[in-house]
Amino acid sequence: MFGLSQQMPHQRRAEALPPARRLDLQQRDKGRDAVADRLGKAHHLPFPVHRERNAVRPGQQAVECFRRGRVGPALEEALELRGAEAVQAGGEAHGSQHAPPTLHEACAIWRSFPACGYIRRMTQPAATSDSLPTPLLFTPLKLRSLTLPNRAVVSPMCMYSAQNGVANDFHLTHLGQFALGGAGLIFTEATAVSPEGRISPEDLGLWTDEQIVPLGHVTDFVHRSGGLIGVQLAHAGRKASTSAPWRGRGMVPPEAGGWQVIGPSDEAYNAFYPQPVAMTVDEIRRVTSDFAAAARRAQMAGFDAAEIHAAHGYLLHQFLSPLANARTDEYGGTFENRVRFLLEVVRAVRAVWPTHLPLFVRVSATDWAAGGWDADQTVQLAGLLRFEGVDVLDVSSGGLTPLQQITAGPLYQVPFAARVKAEVPDLHVMAVGMIDTPAQAEQVLEEGAADLIALARAFLRDPHWPQRAAHEFGLTPTLPDVYARAGW
Ligand SMILES: Cc1cc2nc3c(=O)[nH]c(=O)nc-3n(C[C@H](O)[C@H](O)[C@H](O)COP(=O)(O)O)c2cc1C
Repeated sequence: MFGLSQQMPHQRRAEALPPARRLDLQQRDKGRDAVADRLGKAHHLPFPVHRERNAVRPGQQAVECFRRGRVGPALEEALELRGAEAVQAGGEAHGSQHAPPTLHEACAIWRSFPACGYIRRMTQPAATSDSLPTPLLFTPLKLRSLTLPNRAVVSPMCMYSAQNGVANDFHLTHLGQFALGGAGLIFTEATAVSPEGRISPEDLGLWTDEQIVPLGHVTDFVHRSGGLIGVQLAHAGRKASTSAPWRGRGMVPPEAGGWQVIGPSDEAYNAFYPQPVAMTVDEIRRVTSDFAAAARRAQMAGFDAAEIHAAHGYLLHQFLSPLANARTDEYGGTFENRVRFLLEVVRAVRAVWPTHLPLFVRVSATDWAAGGWDADQTVQLAGLLRFEGVDVLDVSSGGLTPLQQITAGPLYQVPFAARVKAEVPDLHVMAVGMIDTPAQAEQVLEEGAADLIALARAFLRDPHWPQRAAHEFGLTPTLPDVYARAGW
């Protein structure tokens, strides 16, 4: 099927094996080709990449995979085959045979193959000239098993470009450019955990198995470009079913493809937003398990980090704030009751999200409105989140109420991040909001106000922001090998 011009390493190894084992390897190759063929046809994946990936043995990781999860039949069939072949390779490495894997195992194995393909990893670290110390922006940060090469993170940004929540070429190009540009970590846009959790009908989603592989295509590209990518898991609650900004941002009624929205209470955000139905406790439990199921799918898609979106007036923030939460049950009223839903979601996600991968939570530190959520409550919540296994608090603000009074300006949200960092020292903190220049980012890090800097609009204006920043600091920018000839 793929006429190779030269022998792959595993073929050379095969020749050294006794005939019976050689047969096994031939079977494995057949399986590999069949999977590459099916996945490639179904999802337009680049064949040579799969072929190369399949030539690498997963070894130890093949027997360390997880034991839960099911996906749709077509993908299941393809990946079972792919996984069986990989487990066989793992068995060889361990000198024993293993039963065929579950689909979740197969995905874990699929992801365990070292990334290699048409773009080589970036190889050169940014080197300082002379004796200047490396700017903090270009120092690595270890989060569980993940090492971010620098502190510049692409903040989540809705792109209103998916159909039925499925990623396409736009997402590959949009997110892929940041990997080539040297971002330390890239976050997807708010990715809905259920269809009614979408901000707009065109949001990305992870509520069904068919959404896994197209996002896996994006994560593969990012990894092959030397990058890391996280998913932001979200439910918009009463701010769902709205249109893209260039279409007016107002509500999308059911007859135009919108849907009935839900929230902690039945109060709308304002007159231009849909009227929510207050959630029952059963619905709260269902959304909690939707978050966990989406996190499992995110892992299958190959994401390196997950962020739970509890900011900007979306569902989890609506429960946190007394201005949106008028419940009288165990999910409303006191601080302990208002944070209950978020803590349950964090627990459910952490239970399925691999322990070796970091979990972020994004909060709005304040509603900027009297009687709302505020910095004191954020600090209190931060301590609880740390206890639940959250690694990074992403500190944003606002979005809950049209009554908010914000005076935005450069670094205006940084003091909230700094307070969390000072009062919950063992929690990593990401600062965001009008941190546009390398000097501003470095200042925030130098002052110890945050461990990471998230940038949204600055990355849209310049996807190569980290490389430009390195150049401005007098460093040699870290470029993908394929760009090395150009230099900076
Ligand atoms: C086009 C656009 C889309 C955004 N979508 C999201 C989103 O999906 N999730 C989120 O948490 N924040 C979203 N944000 C907010 C950004 O992540 C960020 O917090 C905000 O823009 C402030 O950072 P900046 O000054 O660097 O742009 C979006 C911002 C922009 C400009």
